[in-house]
Amino acid sequence: MSLLKGTRVTWLGHSTVLVQTAKGTNILIDPFIAHNPKYPKSFVLPDKIHYILLTHGHGDHISDAVPVATKHGSTVVAVYELAAYLAGKGVADTIGMNLGGTVQLEDVAATMVDAKHSAGAQDEHGTHYVGVAAGFVLTVADGPVLYHAGDTSVFGDMKLIAELYHPEIAMLPIGGHYTMGPKEAALAAKLLAPRMILPLHFGTFPLLQGTPEELVGLVEYGVEVVRLMPGESI
Ligand code: NI
Ligand code: MN
Repeated sequence: MSLLKGTRVTWLGHSTVLVQTAKGTNILIDPFIAHNPKYPKSFVLPDKIHYILLTHGHGDHISDAVPVATKHGSTVVAVYELAAYLAGKGVADTIGMNLGGTVQLEDVAATMVDAKHSAGAQDEHGTHYVGVAAGFVLTVADGPVLYHAGDTSVFGDMKLIAELYHPEIAMLPIGGHYTMGPKEAALAAKLLAPRMILPLHFGTFPLLQGTPEELVGLVEYGVEVVRLMPGESI
């Protein structure tokens, strides 16, 4: 697809997305695999995953960060406190950053942007403060600009994300209950003005009721809502 200029974006159910650039950089966002009922079980991850990006500390976004980082030799990129938490859980290579910052990951400039959501990490010792929730804008050199919103409500400053980075593909949660639903995601689309929306964070659990079909009926003409099965790519 020409919009992607050789970059492949694969949805792995829930908010888990694999980005593979034309130059061969593999980035996995929010790995939720073992306990993700929508993860495509037959899907084989690339041997090398250079970076794992985490939007926030909830289990449905980080639960497979340690095993994937260990097996695939990945550097984990997350908000400062979450990166430190995962270093404490055994991840050898981490990059801690914060909102508004950009790190260069091979041919991808990853900018951490705002999200409106809670962000504690839970383990057998309780709930830990692991920084704030975030989204990522990925500006691929000679490629597309991607935005993964993480978990969030709609917020007016999405307009700033559009003004600064011009994302062409917006990956937005639409399930409702824990994040925005289709009604709010339609307004997010208006603020972000992407060419395509890849809906995330729906249908995984019964509480996540929002559907891509609802979103299709709400977005303005000119924005394509991409409907993938887990394991499929754009
Ligand atoms: Ni969450
Ligand atoms: Mn979530």
